[in-house]
Amino acid sequence: MVNILGINSVYHESAAALLVDGELVAAAEEERFNRIKHAKEADWDNPHQLPERAIRFCLKQAGLTARDIDHVAYSFDPKLRRKRYRAEWWGRKVEETFQLRLGQVQSAFEELLGRSLGQRFHFVPHHLAHAASAYFPSGFDRAAILTLDGIGESAGSSLAKGVGTRIQSIETFEYPHSIGFMWEEFSAYLGFSNYDASKVMGLAAYGNPEVFRQTFQSILRAEAENYGIAQDFLGVQPDKFARMEAMFGPPRGMDEILPRHADIAAALQAATDAAVMALVRRAKRKVPFENLCIAGGVALNCVTNEVITRSGEFANVFIPSAPHDAGTAIGAAMVAHGATQKKPLQRGYSTPYLGPSFKRGDILAAVKSAGLNARRSKSPARDAADMIADGKIVAWFQGRMEFGPRALGNRSLLADPRGPEMRNILNQKVKHREDFRPFAPSVMAEHADEWFEVGAHSPSHAFMLFAPDVKPEQRDRIPAVVHKDGTARVQLVSRKSNPRFHELLSAFFAKTGVPLVVNTSFNDSEPIVCTPTDAIVTFRKSGIDALFMDDMVLVARN
Ligand SMILES: [Fe+2]
Repeated sequence: MVNILGINSVYHESAAALLVDGELVAAAEEERFNRIKHAKEADWDNPHQLPERAIRFCLKQAGLTARDIDHVAYSFDPKLRRKRYRAEWWGRKVEETFQLRLGQVQSAFEELLGRSLGQRFHFVPHHLAHAASAYFPSGFDRAAILTLDGIGESAGSSLAKGVGTRIQSIETFEYPHSIGFMWEEFSAYLGFSNYDASKVMGLAAYGNPEVFRQTFQSILRAEAENYGIAQDFLGVQPDKFARMEAMFGPPRGMDEILPRHADIAAALQAATDAAVMALVRRAKRKVPFENLCIAGGVALNCVTNEVITRSGEFANVFIPSAPHDAGTAIGAAMVAHGATQKKPLQRGYSTPYLGPSFKRGDILAAVKSAGLNARRSKSPARDAADMIADGKIVAWFQGRMEFGPRALGNRSLLADPRGPEMRNILNQKVKHREDFRPFAPSVMAEHADEWFEVGAHSPSHAFMLFAPDVKPEQRDRIPAVVHKDGTARVQLVSRKSNPRFHELLSAFFAKTGVPLVVNTSFNDSEPIVCTPTDAIVTFRKSGIDALFMDDMVLVARN
């Protein structure tokens, strides 16, 4: 048995993944354990802070101890960074701090594992780890691979080619030409946190992209097969905010959202779609295969992803459930496997259900220590579907936790999509989100085409990464999940991908004739719940009507 641990902790979204003999057996994000969103801030001074609890989970899941780990792979290469770093990017002092901390990474592991690793420790280039996390699970024999994020060692975007078991870098688009950083800056300018790109994406549907289209062309320029970011907006320059103010007016801060803010978001989304499409066309020319894999935080933009699939440049598009930095833990382990093992890596395995699960005894103990009484349901899927159809908010906690930022039916809050008021009810009772943010539907895969313009089904449709149009004739039937622009960030659920969740959707369909429910992550302004106790805490402090944990049911008192 060869056990390879993959780690991401260089910036944020710290995570661990474990390969046993080339098979992916576990992966989890540290935020679910330490209960801090994104696990930690991206900071020069902390790349050596390892996701210790996610690592412990991976070992426990496979029944291993620290001594059993054969290789460790970390999804960043300090040597490559030193080679590419330019003094004009940012001060030497912060870069020195960063390098010093990176120099401590191996010893931090050795301390954690209680032994020396020597040559068994591997630094893997960041974008190679992203590319591997998309290509190997895709199951494609050959594919073009795009990575789009803030920054790796030095690249903001990169293009690679996957053939068989090999990934070859084709070209990189170097910092400061970073689409990811552009979204971080505009998120902050629009009054959200740097990491709230998904809010900006939701807001964009309310705006008119034409109002600032010209202005944006001078910031994020798309050519036929290339993109560029204007000098004044490059990278992480501190005075960028003042320039944004000069072009777009004062930043929003805590003020009310105005049409102007939505127009800015809409123009940013349109400019991003154009820039990414330029890279897709370039990828098609340089790597003229039928298949495209995409990774990097920008690949969480389901609107851009939809534009890519609609374009037809590539017949098949695959994006993993965790395209953001957490996914590089899987990719780094896969690259290390390829570099050290003869046995081929498992390919084409893309389930997001890689986190912890809990036995009945664990669930009962958590219920008992909360001083509650659970009843047992003979048919949880049917009981939950009945409650949802009755207008209740149901928490659905089943099996292994998802890897990636979306709840995909194992740590989900579910509700009836048929009433226009359900969005407000969800926000008031549990989620406390901004009104403009959409709620997503989960639909039985076999009925998806009757309700949404999905196009060719991809395994990635199981990960809520695309935003197809809702069929116009169905929109009035499911107002809670139709976004302002008529789209929905839909998850396709098959019996094979998630049998328990599919059973619930089938029961809801049998009762209502509608094969979909609202599916939002099981949390209230915190990381998604991980354990039965997390689930009970969120259930008790919010207005959730019932909590299903396997076949145990807790019902709110009022
Ligand atoms: Fe990244």
